[in-house]
Amino acid sequence: MVAHMTKKAIILAGGAGTRLYPLTQIACKQLLPIYDKPMIYYPLATLMLGGLREVLIISTPKDLPMIRGLLGDGARLGMRIEYAEQPKPAGLAQAFVIGADFVGNDSVCLILGDNIFYGKLDFFRDALRLVGMDGGACVFGYQVKDPERYGVVEFGADGRAISIEEKPTKPKSPFAVPGLYVYDNEVLQIARDLKPSPRGEFEITDVNVEYLRRQNLHVRVLGRGMAWLDTGTQQSLLDASNYIAAIENRQGLKIACLEEIAFAQGFIDRAGMQRCIDAIPKSPYREYLELVMGEAR
Ligand code: DAU
Repeated sequence: MVAHMTKKAIILAGGAGTRLYPLTQIACKQLLPIYDKPMIYYPLATLMLGGLREVLIISTPKDLPMIRGLLGDGARLGMRIEYAEQPKPAGLAQAFVIGADFVGNDSVCLILGDNIFYGKLDFFRDALRLVGMDGGACVFGYQVKDPERYGVVEFGADGRAISIEEKPTKPKSPFAVPGLYVYDNEVLQIARDLKPSPRGEFEITDVNVEYLRRQNLHVRVLGRGMAWLDTGTQQSLLDASNYIAAIENRQGLKIACLEEIAFAQGFIDRAGMQRCIDAIPKSPYREYLELVMGEAR
C-alpha cells in the first residue's frame, strides 16, 4: 500500500437529470447555477480545500465538452483536471471502472457533482489522511429528515456502523450518507466485481457494504454545524441558492470561488492569480478577486 495523503479525486457529474426537466434541457444539472456560480464549482472547491489537485471529471458524452469548456485542464488553478465519459448513467460505482487508469495505485476520493458542503472541512482532510495512510474507506453520516431518499447508515451501541442500505423504505436511522467518499485502492477491484442492483445500477452503497463486511469502513458523523445541501429538486436548488446568497451577502465573501481558493491554498502564486483575473471579463466576480488579491498584499 502507498502510504501518503490521498491526492486524487473523481467528480461524478453525469446522470440523466430528468427530475429537473426542463432546466436540464439547457445544460446538465451540474452546470446549473447555484446563486452566482455553476453547481460544479462547489464540489470542486470542496476538493481543493481538502488539498486535492488531481481531479477526474466524469460526465455524459453530451455534457462533458461543456464542462471541459468551463474548467479546462485546471492549469490556471494550479490543478490537473482530466475528463472521461460515462456512456450511460449505470451507477455511481462505475466511476472507479471508468477512472481506474487515473487512480492507478493510489487511494481516491469520490464526490458527486451535485453535492454541496459548507462548513469546517477538517473531517474531510482527516479522512483523506486516514485512508491515504492506513487504507480502508471513510464515508460520512449526516442527520436528515428524509433518510429514505439516500444511502442510510445504522450505528451500533458502540457507535460503529453496522449496516448501510440504499434508499430503504424503512430507514434504520436518520443518518444519510452524503456523496463524498474516500477509498483505498481496493475500490478498483470491488467496483469491477459488483453486480447491478435490482434497479439496474452499480451502487456506491454496495461498495460501502463490501468495505463494512471487510471491517474496513470508517463512518464519521458530521456535526449539525455542517451544511450538506441537496440539489435534487427545483425547490432544493432554490434553497441552496438562497443559502449561498445569504452567507455571501452577509460576509461579503464568496463561497467556492475557485481562484481565491487556489491562491489561498498555494496552488497558484500572485502572478498566477493575476493571470486568472486578466482572463475574467469585467464583472462583480472579477472585482471580488481584485479585492481578495489587494487585501492579501
Ligand atoms: O447525494 C447522496 C446520495 O447519492 C447517497 O446518499 C446515495 O447513497 C447515492 O446512491 C446517491 O443517491 P442519488 O439518488 O442522489 O443518486 P443519483 O442517481 O441521483 O446520482 C447522484 C448524482 O450522480 C447525480 O447528480 C447524477 C450523477 N450520476 C448518477 C448516476 C446513477 C452519474 O454521474 N452517473 C450515474 O451513473
